[in-house]
Amino acid sequence: MELYHGDILYSESSKKLKIFENSYIAVENGKVEGIYTSLPEKFAGADVIDHGRGLIIPAFSDLHVHASQFIQRGIGMDLLLNDWLNTYTFPQESHFAEEEYAEPIYEAYVRDMIRHGTFHASIFTTIHRSSADILYKKLEEKGLWALVGKVNMDFQSPSYLCETTEESLRETEIFLDEHSNSSTVKPILTPRFAPTCSRELLWRLGKLGKKYRTGVQTHIVESRWEAAESCRLFPDCRSDSNIYEEAGLLGNGPSIFAHFIFPTEDDIRVMNEYGCFAVHCPEATNNVIAGIMGVHKLQEQDIHIALGSDIGAGVKNGIYRQCAAAIKLSKLKEFYEPEEAKTIDITNAFFLATKAGGSVFGKIGTFEPGYIFNALVIDGIEDENHPMSPEQRLERFCYAGDDRNIVSRYLNGKPIAVD
Ligand code: GUN
Ligand code: FE
Repeated sequence: MELYHGDILYSESSKKLKIFENSYIAVENGKVEGIYTSLPEKFAGADVIDHGRGLIIPAFSDLHVHASQFIQRGIGMDLLLNDWLNTYTFPQESHFAEEEYAEPIYEAYVRDMIRHGTFHASIFTTIHRSSADILYKKLEEKGLWALVGKVNMDFQSPSYLCETTEESLRETEIFLDEHSNSSTVKPILTPRFAPTCSRELLWRLGKLGKKYRTGVQTHIVESRWEAAESCRLFPDCRSDSNIYEEAGLLGNGPSIFAHFIFPTEDDIRVMNEYGCFAVHCPEATNNVIAGIMGVHKLQEQDIHIALGSDIGAGVKNGIYRQCAAAIKLSKLKEFYEPEEAKTIDITNAFFLATKAGGSVFGKIGTFEPGYIFNALVIDGIEDENHPMSPEQRLERFCYAGDDRNIVSRYLNGKPIAVD
């Protein structure tokens, strides 16, 4: 049993934060046992690790990130999606054919995600299985929670980053097979998006999804161009998400759709029917997509939403940054579409970043009893002589903090260092 003292904060729902100032959290076998405002008799004499006024919060979940684009972060930001992919991203990703190129980039990515408090992530690699394996092993070695996808692309893709349909399916099945016994890191099917996948590939990936009980991650209705192109290529499908439904890719595990900015009514139907996640990547939206997810409206339609960094369209790790970006963008959306949109607050954004995103990985993302104690301690936020409430400290951390404010990290109940 371990006991930690500090100001404890987690999400109960999109509308409610639970806050226990000057309290104790008891952790047993890596799981939360309970939170106490004073130490109960049963813990008398036990050692307490004292974080003082440190804010103890759940670690973050990033439900959409391209680890292979970590090397691109903050450069090539002058183009929109289709041109950005063709000019910068596809050529860069082609280098992952070489394991020597992939290894240091994946190493740097994993170190950086831990540094910024992301302990759970749903990750795209590239089409190259052997380098995807390198990332997979690094995540396992660190004891993180992740869904990792070898990307599929067999259509309308440059020759230097394109597979044959057979090759794509064969490599994917090997990837699923090799990782069928993993614990907290699991494989996920990752067709890049409808514009770069043939019908045959998607429908046969659906069969693999059923055989291996594996979920799917991709991009849908992320830009007007992408939404129109997907419908042009699959004219018999009712919506972008219906393509994946018809292919048999939904309902085999988690279904995680990045962006979800321009949904049709049919997209809403599919998301509701299969409990899919729509991943809001506000920073990426600013950089290469130029649309804004209607978070509030989608929540009213009972769509599950989480946050993503979408590196390299987004530029940094740190889902706390995405909380601030999501709030800022929701204001712009409300300003331009007052009938449609509503501003979200820090309580809602933090919920998306922790409890909502964490639910994909199991009992992750809150400090309710039985949840895994994956936690961060946030400090150095207040100005001298200006004490702030826990909620204010959380908000300032999201807007103005960085990894230097994360003074301790706990993974599975144990402290972990950054290196
Ligand atoms: N759509 C297809 N591929 C990508 C990608 O790499 N990043 C983003 N943001 N959107 C995509
Ligand atoms: Fe993406």
